[in-house]
Amino acid sequence: MNPNTLENHWMPFTANRDFKSDPRMVVAAEGMYYTSEDGRQILDGTAGLWCANAGHSHPLIVEAVTNTIKTLDFAPMFNFGHPEAFRLAATLAETFPNPLNRIFFGNSGSEAVDSALKIALAYHKARGKGGKTRFIGRERGYHGVGFGGISVGGIVANRKQFNTHLPGVDHMRHTHDPARNSFTRGPVPHGVELAEDLERLVALHGAETIAAVIVEPMAGSTGILPPPVGYLERLREIATKHDILLIFDEVISGFGRLGTPMAAHYFGVTPDMITFAKGVTSGAIPMGGVAAADFIYDAVVENSETPIELFHGYTYSAHPVAVAAALATQRAYAEDGMFENAASLETVWGDALHSLKGAPNVADIRTIGLVGGIELASRDGKPGARAYEAMKRAWAKGLMIRVTGDIIALSPPLIINESQIGTIADTLKEVLAETA
Ligand SMILES: Cc1ncc(COP(=O)(O)O)c(C=O)c1O
Repeated sequence: MNPNTLENHWMPFTANRDFKSDPRMVVAAEGMYYTSEDGRQILDGTAGLWCANAGHSHPLIVEAVTNTIKTLDFAPMFNFGHPEAFRLAATLAETFPNPLNRIFFGNSGSEAVDSALKIALAYHKARGKGGKTRFIGRERGYHGVGFGGISVGGIVANRKQFNTHLPGVDHMRHTHDPARNSFTRGPVPHGVELAEDLERLVALHGAETIAAVIVEPMAGSTGILPPPVGYLERLREIATKHDILLIFDEVISGFGRLGTPMAAHYFGVTPDMITFAKGVTSGAIPMGGVAAADFIYDAVVENSETPIELFHGYTYSAHPVAVAAALATQRAYAEDGMFENAASLETVWGDALHSLKGAPNVADIRTIGLVGGIELASRDGKPGARAYEAMKRAWAKGLMIRVTGDIIALSPPLIINESQIGTIADTLKEVLAETA
């Protein structure tokens, strides 16, 4: 076998044929930059994949991971434990809004979502409401790639290749309304009435059949859709009224992405569960999980007729090395004031990206926190082609961006400074000018 071949690796969510004909490889990372295989410094406009919020190879995280792998490489968490896992849960309980104090660990956002959906079912069953089994998601939602996640998710391509989903799932309409909301900063002005979709679905299916509604407070992977003003508040009211659990999927929006610990803080709305991953370890080691309200844990645990209360968990739940990475990441966020840095740069970031209004083919720009979406007009009959070309051109100019369809999605590490924000905007300006 040729060890230099690219053929054996079946790459995830990638145009394999195109990549392998023109690879974009990184070999090292530090702070705000990747190093490409040909030795160039690449400014990270995407925090890797929305995860390296603390910047790359933060010394605290590197040290914690290195020490832990030497002392405790693995610990079984079924009927055994290790102290740092409990310390991390207590630390995270401080980060999540009250009463989300019970932390269940997995390894990814997809697992976090599956865990949250199962916890919702177990919660209702424990209260004698086992008929509440439906889930409500939203069009254009992204909740990872497990069967639970693609069922409640609403990204068309991620669903239609597979056909089979969880039964009993319905979707609210998405909130993208470019005719009324365009070139926006923060929550968008129009669309609060779309939250009434939840009331309509309750009327259609009956509240006694619905377990939970899951939304990203700010839809990320679909191409940055900040919620309409008042929308999340209204979902909260309707969910509470009908005894439906409200789940915020904060895999992207958590850990300082919007300049607050969680998006729940940014919007001032407290859900019943939050799913998290990515920024919890700044991407250094895989970890994800669910923060559940005390009353959910109490209902499942206190009412249990079996010694084990929840028949769910992963071999690598609270893996010691991931726990060490997460604890060090939380320390780095606090000691370096990273959430504060993100918050203080929200206006500068918005100004820089909105300066691209008027650049060729720019149809819309949406910014919130340290997140930005630049929507390009699609080429006739070739959706996604223009943004994909822009991504390649940016890479050639030393900037890593992410594209989804014809939307450029930006989410730099929270340690970014004003000059680097300027570089992102300047590079994109050149890229857009060259991408006809
Ligand atoms: C909101 C949301 N949920 C879940 C996931 C899935 O996370 P993972 O890729 O770690 O499974 C993602 C990934 O981007 C996400 O954005």
